[in-house]
Amino acid sequence: MWHNVQAAPADVILGLTEAFRADANPHKVNLGVGVYKDEVGLTPILQAVKEAEKILVAAEVSKNYLPIPGEVSFAVPVRELIFGAGHPALHEKRVVTAHTPGGTGALRVGAELLRKFLPKATVWISNPTWSNHKGIFAAFPQKEYPYYDPAHMGIDFPAMLETLNQVPAGDIVLLHACCHNPSGFDLQPQQWDELVAVAAARKWLPFVDFAYQGFAQGLADDRYAVAKLAETGLDMLVASSYSKNFGLYNERCGALSLVAPSEHEATVAMSHLKTVIRVLYSNPPAHGGLIVATILANQGLRALWEEEVAGMRRRIVEMRHLLVEGLKERGVSGDFSFITRQNGMFSYTGLSDRVVDWLRGEKHIYMVAGGRINLAGLTTKNIAYVCDSIRQALAG
Ligand code: LMR
Repeated sequence: MWHNVQAAPADVILGLTEAFRADANPHKVNLGVGVYKDEVGLTPILQAVKEAEKILVAAEVSKNYLPIPGEVSFAVPVRELIFGAGHPALHEKRVVTAHTPGGTGALRVGAELLRKFLPKATVWISNPTWSNHKGIFAAFPQKEYPYYDPAHMGIDFPAMLETLNQVPAGDIVLLHACCHNPSGFDLQPQQWDELVAVAAARKWLPFVDFAYQGFAQGLADDRYAVAKLAETGLDMLVASSYSKNFGLYNERCGALSLVAPSEHEATVAMSHLKTVIRVLYSNPPAHGGLIVATILANQGLRALWEEEVAGMRRRIVEMRHLLVEGLKERGVSGDFSFITRQNGMFSYTGLSDRVVDWLRGEKHIYMVAGGRINLAGLTTKNIAYVCDSIRQALAG
C-alpha cells in the first residue's frame, strides 16, 4: 500500500522537537514549539496541578466514561474563566461548553460542526497564522486577511479591518484572542471594539482561538476580545486550551464553547456538537479536565495557580527584555525593541529563513521557519549563546 507513496513532510513545529531531541550537541537550544520552560529549561508541573492530583487520586472511585461533552464540573468554571463570571451571555444561558482533547481538539470539533451547518462558508485566517490552522480547516475554502506587516513590525490594522469589512455574512473568521501565534502582536482594546462592530454589522461568524489566556496581560485582561464578541448576541465559537496556562500539555485538555443568540439555540447547538464528538472520539479523556475543574473550584488552589500563571508570564517578559538588551549590547544591527511590545510566548523576530537555517545547522538553535521563536526557551544561561549566535548570523 505504501510502496509508491512519498513520505509526508515533518510537521513544521512538532517536527522541530523531534530533530532537537535527536541533536546530541550540548549547546542546543529549542526555541521552536510553544511550550513553557522555566529558568533551568524544564517544563514544570505546576504546584497547583500537583495538589489537585493528590485530591483526585484520593477521591477517585471509578474510571467510567465521561459524558460526551466531558467532565460535568468542568464546563461552568471554565466558561467563567473564558468570558468572565458576570458576563451577560452566561447569565442568559447562551453559552454551552464541551471539554475537548486539547485546544486542537476543540478547533477540530468546531470545524466538523461548522462543516455540517455552513458547508459553503469560507474560513478567513490571519496572515500569518499558526501552521496547524490550515490543516484543521482543510475541508473549507480558505482566504487570508492581512495581519502582520513586516515592513513596520506590527499589525496592519487598517488593512485587516478593510478585508474583514468585506467578508460575506455566514463566512467564518478565525481570530486569535491574545498572544497571536506566530507574530506575538495583539490588537489593542479599542481596535477589538472596532473589529467587534464590523463582525456585528457584517454578520460573519467569529471562531476565536484562545490558547494563551494569562500569558499576555493577565487572566482577566486577556479575555477582552472574547467577552466583547459574546456581548453582540451573535453566534460564535471559542476554542480554549489548558495546555499552556495549566501546563497540561500531555493531558490534552481544552474546551469548545458555542455562544448562541438564545438559550434555546445554545441547547440545539450542543445537541449537534454531541453527535459530532460521538463519532470522532466518543468522549474526552478525564484527567486534565478534572484537574482544571478542581483548581478552579478550590479557592486556595486557584490563588496558587493564578500566581503560577503570573510567574510564567513575568519570566517570559524578562526574557524579552534580556534578548533585546543582549542584541543591543553586541551591536547587532537593527532595532529589536519591538520584541518587548509583543505578547505571550512567541516573537516574530524578523530573522530570515536563511538565518533560521544557519542557526540550526551551525549553532543548534531551533526556531520555526518564518523566524518565530519561543521566548520561554531562553534562560539566563543560554541567552548569551543565543545573542552571540544571532550576531554572528547577521554579520555573516
Ligand atoms: C505552537 O504553536 O508551538 C504550539 O501551539 C504547539 C503546537 O501544537 O504547535
